Amino acid sequence: MALRRRFHIRTYGCQMNVHDSQKVAALLTRAGYRAAEDPEQADLLIVNTCSIREKAEHRLYTDLGRLREWKERRAGRVLGVAGCVAQQEGDAILRRFAAVDFVYGTHNLRLVPALAAAAEQGERSLRIEESRSLERFDLPQHHPDLPSETPGRAFVTAMEGCDMFCTFCVVPNTRGREISRPAAGIAAEVESLAAAGVREITLLGQTVNAYGRHDVRRGRAPKAGTESFAALLRRLARVPGIERIRYTSPHPSFFDDELVRAHGELEVLCPHVHLPAQSGSDAVLARMRRPYSAAAYRALCERLRAARPDVALTTDLIVGFPGESDADFAATLALMSDVGFVDAYTFKYSPRPGTPAAGLDSPVEPAVAQARLEELQRLQRSLTLDAHRRRVGSETEVLVEGESRRGAGQASGRDPYHRVVNVAAEAETAGLRSPAARRARLAAPGDVVRVRVVDATPHSLIGEPVSPPRRLAEFGLKNTAIRADEEKWSALL
Ligand code: 5AD
Ligand code: SF4
Repeated sequence: MALRRRFHIRTYGCQMNVHDSQKVAALLTRAGYRAAEDPEQADLLIVNTCSIREKAEHRLYTDLGRLREWKERRAGRVLGVAGCVAQQEGDAILRRFAAVDFVYGTHNLRLVPALAAAAEQGERSLRIEESRSLERFDLPQHHPDLPSETPGRAFVTAMEGCDMFCTFCVVPNTRGREISRPAAGIAAEVESLAAAGVREITLLGQTVNAYGRHDVRRGRAPKAGTESFAALLRRLARVPGIERIRYTSPHPSFFDDELVRAHGELEVLCPHVHLPAQSGSDAVLARMRRPYSAAAYRALCERLRAARPDVALTTDLIVGFPGESDADFAATLALMSDVGFVDAYTFKYSPRPGTPAAGLDSPVEPAVAQARLEELQRLQRSLTLDAHRRRVGSETEVLVEGESRRGAGQASGRDPYHRVVNVAAEAETAGLRSPAARRARLAAPGDVVRVRVVDATPHSLIGEPVSPPRRLAEFGLKNTAIRADEEKWSALL
């Protein structure tokens, strides 16, 4: 029998891209490929690209230079390019890089096995058509032969695309218009994940809390099969076995009272909201086409805190947007400290081709933008450390993802507030005599460990276990549920 061909996917960018790669991995595995951890072992390599900032896009071009050699090292190798750069630059990529065999866009994942097969026959192809079809939500997300990246956790797509057109952002061009997945399909997927041992789900969407309401905004009736985002959360909170629900990324404009209330009412809804602010200056927000003021943003944070006093708020902020004055930047610093974010992703504005902001006058000097970025990051580091220190002495639960960067034997994961917690393994196992017993007690990926926070660093919390880990469901159970889904997909695809 011929050896199964092997694939490797290199992924850049957001969780949606990571999840798209998972879907393509499942499709390729169904088509008879085997996953390779090391690109050197792979016959098919796919680069799933990101174009949110210039740096991310450049990575592809650096990669493609090197991958030409990868391809030449063994006959029959196939190279594909996917994701947001593919969607926007597909044609140019094929023309410029002879080593690339196929390019597919963000709406064409299901074609990958066919494109790869055609490439094996020497055919080069480009598939970047946009689609309004709900079919994309029927793609398999998992396969029993693929290890899940973090057992116990999974992404679930709720909606895709973006209609907001912030002036700095390429996403509306690369991901197309908003489209929501019917709630029953989301619930069915979450049920099967829960049966497979998943405890934490993260609902994904570019403006995830606009779920089901795109048509309402356009003055039409809601799309059949959808409901409000809060109703979706309530529905998923009832799925037995699901202990944590997260969602990312919401838009500040779509927090209705029902959603804010859900944060106080649903125990499984994690007390963490990642709430991109982008700027603290009304003038900059207006030029970014963010339809809220800094005061409205602050008020939203207060509403969330009133509903769930311990909620951890994190954000995205951009410095150096065209025309940003010292006073505008001071307003961003003020927002950061007033809200007291637990963490923030901070970026220097990067002009993106085809976006309205790329044509704006008054660019901020690169050195000024850099200095602002550093000042913002300094402030955030001190806020993060303060927030972490306030947690010392409290108890929390860690869903273990793997081994800590700090050292062997120390499990690491996230708590409901999305903080990284390193579990002090020695304390947990000190009382056990044999090495085998100690190993058995060590928390493994997918386990949940209740800890007391004993120390805080700028990047993480340190926790001592207060009880033995709750183990991830047996692997046999995981596979049964995913195999059942495989049969369903066989009928669909
Ligand atoms: N330049 C810098 N940052 C950007 N982001 C999006 N587009 C740009 C850009 N052109 C940031 C925003 C967004 C996050 C995902 O990336 O803060 O929330
Ligand atoms: Fe980009 Fe704005 Fe849409 Fe977010 S809401 S994806 S920043 S256009």
